[in-house]
Amino acid sequence: MTSAEVRPIHLDTDPGLDDLLAIALALALPELRVDALTTVAGNAGIDRVTENAQRFAALAGLALPIGRGAAEPLALSRCDAAHFHGEDGRRGVSIPALDRRPVETAASVLRARLAAHGVRCVVALGPLTNLATLAREQPTLLEGIEIVWMGGALQGGNVTPVAEFNAYADPQALSTLLDSAAALRVIPLEVTETVALREADVGEQPFGASELGRTLEAVLRALMEAERPTAGEARASLHDPCAVLAATRRDLFRYEEKVIRIQVDESSDRGRLSELPAGSGRTVHYAVEARADEIKRIFLDGLRRLGEAA
Ligand code: BDR
Ligand code: CA
Repeated sequence: MTSAEVRPIHLDTDPGLDDLLAIALALALPELRVDALTTVAGNAGIDRVTENAQRFAALAGLALPIGRGAAEPLALSRCDAAHFHGEDGRRGVSIPALDRRPVETAASVLRARLAAHGVRCVVALGPLTNLATLAREQPTLLEGIEIVWMGGALQGGNVTPVAEFNAYADPQALSTLLDSAAALRVIPLEVTETVALREADVGEQPFGASELGRTLEAVLRALMEAERPTAGEARASLHDPCAVLAATRRDLFRYEEKVIRIQVDESSDRGRLSELPAGSGRTVHYAVEARADEIKRIFLDGLRRLGEAA
């Protein structure tokens, strides 16, 4: 992709602190155009994450379709990440309740935008329930679509010792998509954890003094506190922003083609990824390394531009 090309993307998200930062990054990058946004239960329940998306869209002055998605995973029990993102999905960070855009259903937004608006890339920042439902109900719609997903882990998890949150929350959904027509680009936990901001990277009013800039700063600081180890320095892993960047900057990650599968049963292995031998099935592009310093720089510069322009 040359710098002159603008790639339209669809965002499927469960905001969520790092989701909000990822949406902001997508808005800030001139090479991406956010076409529409759908929500999925994940970090918090569907009402909370949809309200967070609506509030943030209003604050950022976004006029795009918003679709409310799945409240429950395809199978298994629902979980959330309230212990990390708070019951409200934003750890109490205040986002003004401006005039919010009305919501449609995620299914209707996805169908309309993928079918008729030329969107060929979905950046998925949460459990994959909405996309898997589409794959089951209208499989041909995913032909020629690339799904860039933040999720999964082959080297230790963050919700159990073996599973990453988005994979754990709806393992059946990833399994369904691995058998679908969509091309998958996976940005896993072991890579996004290497892209972490620390206090020294951030400084005073990093995104300017506008309401949007100050809200983004509050979200980033809340993420740092959420991730602060019992003893030691606060940090914020840029999980979801990494997936947004992966939709436009292939050079920021090193990929391997892997055949993967996921444990879909309700057991201690729920959501665990494993790698199968090459040639045993369809491959995904699986990120194995990130250029962390460059990603952090693009992230900070982008959000600063967005905040200062608001
Ligand atoms: C992923 O899980 C969620 O809590 C974050 O928003 C991110 O999408 C990291 O494991
Ligand atoms: Ca997320």
